[in-house]
Amino acid sequence: QVDIPSLADTFKNDFAIGAAIEPDQLNGLSADLMKKQINMLVAENVMKPASIQPAEGQFNWEQADRIVAFAKANNMAVRFHTLVWHSQVPDWFFKDVDGKPMTDETDPKKREANKRLLLDRLDAHVRAIVGRYKDDITYWDVVNEVIEPADPDGMRSSNWYKITGTDYIATSFRAAREAGGPRIKLYINDYGTDDPKKRDRLYDLVKEMLGKGVPIDGVGHQTHISVYNPSVTNIVDSMKKFRELGLDNQITELDMSVYNWNDRTDYGAAVPEDILQKQAQRYRELFEALKSNAGLVSAVVFWGIADDHTWLSTFPVTRTEAPLLFDKQLHAKPAFWAIVDPS
Ligand code: XIL
Repeated sequence: QVDIPSLADTFKNDFAIGAAIEPDQLNGLSADLMKKQINMLVAENVMKPASIQPAEGQFNWEQADRIVAFAKANNMAVRFHTLVWHSQVPDWFFKDVDGKPMTDETDPKKREANKRLLLDRLDAHVRAIVGRYKDDITYWDVVNEVIEPADPDGMRSSNWYKITGTDYIATSFRAAREAGGPRIKLYINDYGTDDPKKRDRLYDLVKEMLGKGVPIDGVGHQTHISVYNPSVTNIVDSMKKFRELGLDNQITELDMSVYNWNDRTDYGAAVPEDILQKQAQRYRELFEALKSNAGLVSAVVFWGIADDHTWLSTFPVTRTEAPLLFDKQLHAKPAFWAIVDPS
């Protein structure tokens, strides 16, 4: 762990290297590994709406502050994840003045008043958080996972969308820009952006928003992929498309499952060596493609630092997973060497 190369150094002329973590990983071996390997930090959960404003006007800064302080002390940039999401968001946002779910309202006048109330709450949420961290956090996921090709109009039928249409998107970007100024960079983040259908819907939305003067600076591509799919070509082509709009791209939640998405196999005690080699090949291919397309991405963030802590070990089912570059003992895997020494 001590004598191996550093990812951050290896790619210092190409893009930043980050990891999403929980505050309790800021001690011991994980912290040492992060200090050496990465130059960008993301909160895996503690900056999400449910965590940061669990009740109206009641902000929980402590855990978020710990991550920001660690990043500062170690010269790391921070990505904020995420101001707005349909998941991990408290119910109070969507309750009307009588405590009733806004989505139950049928009276048009009251629906309009509810929409106003929700957008005001959203505006206050964004301004409070951006105001607090604007000098410490440069990159912001403003909205997360708003596209769903299977839903009406290709927009996810979240409470946000049901109550405000796409106004919540415009409102949150505008509030973030006003509170944070031009120095902070604002992203629309989603998964499956390699899929042409989803990518094109996202592209149309972003174009429409930019046309209305909504301040979007870039697209965050979660990039939860597997050793089997999608192709690196599809991943890169999608980013090129957004680049043509003048937008930045960041890979925001990279990990590579050792399973096929719909397959419920469990390797149990150990992931087979040939699968780990396949994973290394795929990681190599991805990073080579990113490097050879200079300026395509400004950051690559992993959703975790090592296989000892990964959301995939319980999602979509509980099983042995190994999606990252370091193993459960925090030792470099074949995938790590494939990236730092691809020859
Ligand atoms: C996940 C976290 O990793 C888990 O700990 C939590 O229980 C659920 O959320 N897309 C996102 C992330 O944008 O916020 C999700 O993080 C993973 C999928």
